[in-house]
Amino acid sequence: MKQFISVKDVTDPNELALKAMEIKKDPYSNASLGEQKVLGLIFFNSSLRTRMSTTRAAYNLGMKVMTLNVSSDSWQLETEDGAVMNQGNAEHIKEAIPVMSSYCDVLGVRSFPSLIDKEKDYQETLINSFVHLSNCPIINLESATLHPLQSLADLMTIQEGKVKTNPKVVLTWAPHIKPLPQSVANSFAEWMNAAKIDLTITHPKGMELSPEFSGQARIITDQEAALVGADFVYVKNWSSFQDYGKVKKDPKWMMTREKLEITNDAKLMHCLPVRRNVVISDDAMDSNHSIINELAENRLYAAQAVLTEILKNL
Ligand code: CP
Repeated sequence: MKQFISVKDVTDPNELALKAMEIKKDPYSNASLGEQKVLGLIFFNSSLRTRMSTTRAAYNLGMKVMTLNVSSDSWQLETEDGAVMNQGNAEHIKEAIPVMSSYCDVLGVRSFPSLIDKEKDYQETLINSFVHLSNCPIINLESATLHPLQSLADLMTIQEGKVKTNPKVVLTWAPHIKPLPQSVANSFAEWMNAAKIDLTITHPKGMELSPEFSGQARIITDQEAALVGADFVYVKNWSSFQDYGKVKKDPKWMMTREKLEITNDAKLMHCLPVRRNVVISDDAMDSNHSIINELAENRLYAAQAVLTEILKNL
């Protein structure tokens, strides 16, 4: 694997998920693969799981890790081409990216969208700048429109937890208090479609994802109808793609224990962080349906599978 920006960098997503499951059984099986290699983690936005799971995955492979929080640890970076840099940003990414990549063997980057300029966000300007200006492979730690490390862990968790060959997976929109990126939902749909999983997406009218990502998934605007027979329910808020970045707060769409009763004893998933009793009720979060913490643990093995494939190619 030369880079990990989206599912398009993966030959077979199901095979990669199986590799992550194998790593989970024996996390130190390749403990020296990354010796004398350095992973740089560049965060333009906050993270708990991505930061810690990717760091631990690198340690399991013998790598060393350097982490930079751009907002607080470094010079403020300018990203605009042709900018007259007479304001706050002291360094341009045209210098910063080649320099950072010269210190590292692999770079991971997290950068959320503006949720203001749809065209610019969906062009993935920043992560593409890393791809073009760096001298080493790039891993997407969540970009403007995608979160592939999350999606690999999602797929792994479904493959691990399924009790029938073709489970029904439902991605349901849920309310939130502020506008969130579409990246987790886009990426989830893209990976499920690529892995040939039976995917239903349910959301209120006006909250459609870009068809580029929802693809051939079944789309139903009646949440309860969508949940009938579900084996896995993946809950996520996203802001509007059409009315770009606008928030919707409809509390009727919160996931509850009562709604899970409609399903085929579904396993409940969420990428975290989750706002309890806004996105998912306490009684659902704390029920036996939830595999949310198991999913978060699998982020480690997903990240390790990706790092393993990249290190093998260095
Ligand atoms: N799910 C996820 O990416 O979590 P963090 O934002 O904490 O990394």
